[in-house]
Amino acid sequence: MPVSEGMISALIDLRRVDGERLVVQLTGQLRSLIATGRLGKGRALPSSRRLASDLGVSRNTVTYAFEQLAAEGYLEASHGRRPVVTFDGGERVQGPRVVTSRLGSRNPRLSPWASRLKQTDWPMSYQAPLKPLRPGHGDFREFPNDVWARCLRRSIVRAAKRDLGLVNRTRLREALAHYLATSRGVRATAEQILILPSAQAALTLIAAALITPGDEVWVENPGYPGATAAFRASGARVTGIGLDGQGMQRMPGLPPPALIFMTPSHQHPTGRLMSLSRRTEFLGPSRPDKAWIVEDDYDGEFHYDSRPVPALQGLDAHGRVFYVGTFSKAMTSDIRLGYLVAPPALAGTLEIAQRHIGLIAASHIQEALAEFIVDGHFLAHLRRMRRLYHARRDHLVEGLQRHLGEVLSVEVPSGGIQLVARLKHGRADQAAVKRLIDAGVEARALSSLSLGRPRDHGLLLGFAAWRESEINAALRTMASCF
Ligand SMILES: Cc1ncc(COP(=O)(O)O)c(C=O)c1O
Repeated sequence: MPVSEGMISALIDLRRVDGERLVVQLTGQLRSLIATGRLGKGRALPSSRRLASDLGVSRNTVTYAFEQLAAEGYLEASHGRRPVVTFDGGERVQGPRVVTSRLGSRNPRLSPWASRLKQTDWPMSYQAPLKPLRPGHGDFREFPNDVWARCLRRSIVRAAKRDLGLVNRTRLREALAHYLATSRGVRATAEQILILPSAQAALTLIAAALITPGDEVWVENPGYPGATAAFRASGARVTGIGLDGQGMQRMPGLPPPALIFMTPSHQHPTGRLMSLSRRTEFLGPSRPDKAWIVEDDYDGEFHYDSRPVPALQGLDAHGRVFYVGTFSKAMTSDIRLGYLVAPPALAGTLEIAQRHIGLIAASHIQEALAEFIVDGHFLAHLRRMRRLYHARRDHLVEGLQRHLGEVLSVEVPSGGIQLVARLKHGRADQAAVKRLIDAGVEARALSSLSLGRPRDHGLLLGFAAWRESEINAALRTMASCF
């Protein structure tokens, strides 16, 4: 149900006992009211003064929450005016009718994990249908569905013949160990590989197994919000580490982290490549003591300008690196398969945790994928997509430079599926993204991927999923918007 203005403060439940900062709780709860459509698009919120007084918190707390949500694209907040909701949570999620009875409560007591997860949830706008130039996707229309269907069928027929016999759970792991060694320089036995429903599942599993509340975790800033959400939910204190020309910085002055999350092959979102010397610094004798490193190679299959730089995991002599991958980008996001290469000392423990949490991928899909890889279809698909996406990257870069060079400066990534175009002349990206979305072009605001006050403003634009004709149409729309 949409909520009236007077009820907004009644729906916010700030707890002063569980160690979570009020501002984080307030931001998370407002975000979820907007994302679920209960505070609909166009709705004016109370002023910061009024909401602060209703909730009994400082005005700074409310102002910061409004600013953060404005940076993420949920609100428009300008000085001296009440903030207005700009995100369309849609009718679809008006939410179940709230049941209040002696047995039910509107604010059930949650575990610290669930409370933190609710507050660090990242925007779920991606549930809406895909529109050009949404980032983060390959072109699933190009996926060889006929070949995949044959692999699936054979896997199901084999399962039927096997009767009650055991499924072969090592075939995919062996095929992956070989593929990762030859194409990404990953050094792993099949026993170190865990097959999971997604890369996000791998991050959740690592966080559950390794994070003690209060642990320091470093992530890239700007970076991938899914990683921040997973580590924060486990109670980590997440610090955003800035980038320079060589990738994530070292920051020897900060307290040493328990874990570092990074995307060294194509930094998410900027597409930058971490230099070899920076990689060795993170792994060498001066490495942050005892820190685990999680290397997320979410789109490492796609490189265009030079030979791919081998994975950081392959350089690790101390058994400290986890390597995470996904088939969401290389095949289709509907396949729901990702994987984790664990350091040898942790593979057994993580496998037990995987079974207890139940993060198991369907056996017949695992078998079909093993066949798809072993018979060469996976590499053939990647080769074709690399050519296609390379041409699309060049097409988008050239179009942006030609038609929007006055307002945008493009960072050309050497690989991957998306790129960042920075806004010139100090323009803010949230307003630009809103205008584009209203005109039918999807982009993601770079500032929404920052931790803390965003310093970078730009557009994250996808190129891999979009045909040249779709890119051209989007460029025309963009030119008319700026
Ligand atoms: C950097 C990064 N890692 C991981 C993922 C998630 O992959 P999956 O769909 O397998 O969870 C994404 C998805 O966009 C991503 O951008």
